[in-house]
Amino acid sequence: MTAGSLRVLNPQNVWGAETELNRDGFYPSLHTTLKPVTRVNYLPERDADKTPILECIDLGISFGGLKAVDNFNIALGRTEIAGLIGPNGAGKTTIFNLLTKVYQPTHGTILLDGKDIAYMTTEQVNRAGIARTFQNIRLFHNQTVIDNVLIGLHNEMHYTMAESVLRLPRYWKAEKIARERALEYLSLFHLEEHAEELAGSLPYGAQRRLEIARALATNPSLLLLDEPAAGMNPSETAELMENIVRIRDTFQIAILLIEHDMNLVMNICEGIAVLNFGRIIAKGSPDDIRSNPAVVEAYLGRKGAKKL
Ligand SMILES: Nc1ncnc2c1ncn2[C@@H]1O[C@H](COP(=O)(O)OP(=O)(O)O)[C@@H](O)[C@H]1O
Ligand SMILES: [Mg+2]
Repeated sequence: MTAGSLRVLNPQNVWGAETELNRDGFYPSLHTTLKPVTRVNYLPERDADKTPILECIDLGISFGGLKAVDNFNIALGRTEIAGLIGPNGAGKTTIFNLLTKVYQPTHGTILLDGKDIAYMTTEQVNRAGIARTFQNIRLFHNQTVIDNVLIGLHNEMHYTMAESVLRLPRYWKAEKIARERALEYLSLFHLEEHAEELAGSLPYGAQRRLEIARALATNPSLLLLDEPAAGMNPSETAELMENIVRIRDTFQIAILLIEHDMNLVMNICEGIAVLNFGRIIAKGSPDDIRSNPAVVEAYLGRKGAKKL
């Protein structure tokens, strides 16, 4: 791990009741020092002197009269694992839709690696470095597992339409290299032996892993994961946590995840932003967030942390 000393989660905190998975040392928390870089933003110390991979400035969107997201300010370090949490309907997925240009913001600015993405399309943003997974899995169910990853890789392949139609040597060479790379991505997620099966035939947890593999194949510098642990059993979630940290360590990219599983969030996220009714109500390290009265009230004052 790149993030300095390790800390073991205190399993008795309000965010995650003790589970069989909370074995000492098994879920090492990233003990990252956050450094203020502006009046409203923090970055992990190791990333603080570099351009943030993502910066949102006063970002907002309204649907009719509803301000789904308002005054959203955040900066993400280039190798940061960050969490976006908040009750259902708080605006979390809407933020991902803004970042990937599914929605146009009503106001505000999004900088990707310092560049304004205002005039980019979803596809251009993906090529520029943002990949995502969806709250409801979106795979090509009737295509094979490896084809789903190859679709991601085709962003990166270089041959002309004519070379492809005529099946010229450069096409076959590129295809062979792409298949090898696709298998490497699949093996990261223990999916290589399922390469030729239909994506739709995989169990749920494996489909979620495949979606991450496909997103990674587009070679992002920022990976957005929308509720990656949803529907996973505890051992799948444990493996997912390890995978997320491993992805960051291997590819040295930033990961922003939306998640309700507080055990996951508090263990692997370095910076956390808490959203309530479209606005950030708290931002900071896991320790800052746990002890923030506004957060505790937003969650525990309602139906308790487990319902988040
Ligand atoms: N396309 C849309 N049209 C109208 N309202 C929307 C649209 N997308 C999201 N919303 C509303 O914005 C709010 C935030 O939704 P969402 O971002 O999905 O929340 P979360 O992911 O935090 O659960 C909700 O009130 C939702 O109904
Ligand atoms: Mg959502």
